[in-house]
Amino acid sequence: MLKVIEQLEAKREAARMGGGQKRIDAQHAKGRLTARERLEVLLDPGSFEELDMYVEHNCVDFGMEATKIPGDGVVTGSGTINGRLVFVFSQDFTVFGGSLSERHAQKICKIMDMAMKVGAPVIGLNDSGGARIQEGVASLGGYAEVFQRNVLASGVVPQISLIMGPCAGGAVYSPAMTDFIFMVKDSSYMFVTGPDVVKTVTNEIVTQEELGGAVTHTTKSGVADLALEDDVEALMRTRQFFDFLPLNNKQATPFRPTHDDPERIEHSLDTLVPPSANKPYDMHELIRKVADEGEFFELQPSHAANIIIGFARIEGSTVGIVANQPMVLAGVLDIASSKKAGRFVRFCDAFNIPIVTFVDVPGFLPGVAQEHNGIIKNGAKLLFAYAEATVPKITVITRKAYGGAYDVMASKHLRGDLNYAWPTAEIAVMGAKGAVEIIFRGKSPEEIAERTAEYERRFANPFVAASKGFVDEVIMPHSTRRRIAIGLRKLRTKSLENPWKKHDNIPL
Ligand code: COA
Repeated sequence: MLKVIEQLEAKREAARMGGGQKRIDAQHAKGRLTARERLEVLLDPGSFEELDMYVEHNCVDFGMEATKIPGDGVVTGSGTINGRLVFVFSQDFTVFGGSLSERHAQKICKIMDMAMKVGAPVIGLNDSGGARIQEGVASLGGYAEVFQRNVLASGVVPQISLIMGPCAGGAVYSPAMTDFIFMVKDSSYMFVTGPDVVKTVTNEIVTQEELGGAVTHTTKSGVADLALEDDVEALMRTRQFFDFLPLNNKQATPFRPTHDDPERIEHSLDTLVPPSANKPYDMHELIRKVADEGEFFELQPSHAANIIIGFARIEGSTVGIVANQPMVLAGVLDIASSKKAGRFVRFCDAFNIPIVTFVDVPGFLPGVAQEHNGIIKNGAKLLFAYAEATVPKITVITRKAYGGAYDVMASKHLRGDLNYAWPTAEIAVMGAKGAVEIIFRGKSPEEIAERTAEYERRFANPFVAASKGFVDEVIMPHSTRRRIAIGLRKLRTKSLENPWKKHDNIPL
């Protein structure tokens, strides 16, 4: 008996060595942790339970029958993060470059199926040379099996992807269909075709990092949500992030007790909005002053920064925050910001996370590029997302809410539950000067100035909207946290259903 136990331990030990010490050293030399080390950082100590440790590939071509490594390039199983269950896979670059074989894919599919059965999130740590070249179509089939599960799991359990090494070709589409992507700077990249193919086809010369590194995807493309300094930071931030999310679409978000008084008054907010309508201010200040303990987990901070998205807690429960940022492009809505916020609103709605929206928006961004690249359909994404959302929606207009953008930003008309405005709010079709120049075209500068002042008096305030019931109450800026906390408490039992449909047809 003891002998068998020893043999088992030796077998496990061999499997844990993956592709061997030399390749482990090479991984470390690149500043990367191994697949198992990463799981140790991500999960609560001792909580990881590995499955399929002895799975091997079934390929007999190109001499592969002679090189079998237990685990086949991916470590899979489950564990806990701060006590809550999560299913994980972690690709092992030391084994065939973490490339995906048929069996490797089957291991990932197995834990995804279990996650769906029990209702727990899936976190994938990606570090892979792509499809196992020796296996050909079997490995492509493996990818598609994973893709299919990503789609079925979407909106049922949260899915998070960490990109911690190469992720190229077909491999990018599984992370792309998950809810959030975090990348490690100078160490990970994602692209459909690499620099060599790009050079051959388009004659463009570009490095891996420029084409698909963490900075590129968190600034230019918006493919990824966060760029982290190294493996450890990426994994620790993921732990923090996980605590905001529910386990599945039927469970509440985790409650985190707080000593931060929901009635806390913030007098500094009374002077946040500058006297001049064209002067910016940082919307982050409002978000942090409203959130429990000033904690805000921002996503995509460097992409489309004219809109801010992320999670905070109020009275211990998660809320999704969407806010125009007057500091960037005056907080205008454009293609990138509408896509960024639209997807976030849909995530919140799918997982029953209330949405708090702070509005200071001068309208949609004018321009040929915007029109030709489809601001109409892209702007409609955010509008659609807000309109279909049935979770509690609380909106606070701090300053401008102009034109169609007023409608889009969780207005009363899109079933906003509580729509508040600060006394500094200006709810109108457009800014006073622009409006007067259109209606009084050709008039003298004196008359324009006079009419502008009149327009401001009439419309640059929240009371016209309040008199129509489009704004429920004009609130003191200093009591914003209190108002939101009371509102969320009131809306906890909100029940609203959209008409039955197979699914909607959001503009894509
Ligand atoms: N299939 C099978 N084996 C693969 C592989 C793949 N797709 N990608 C990498 N490997 C193996 C390599 O043969 C090497 O094996 P070895 O340690 O036994 O020599 C090992 O993984 C490490 O790869 P290596 O190329 O030495 O690492 P690197 O850090 O220099 O480069 C990549 C990493 C991903 C850029 C490079 O391996 C690569 O270009 N891979 C192929 C990518 C691809 O075209 N995939 C298929 C289309 S999706």
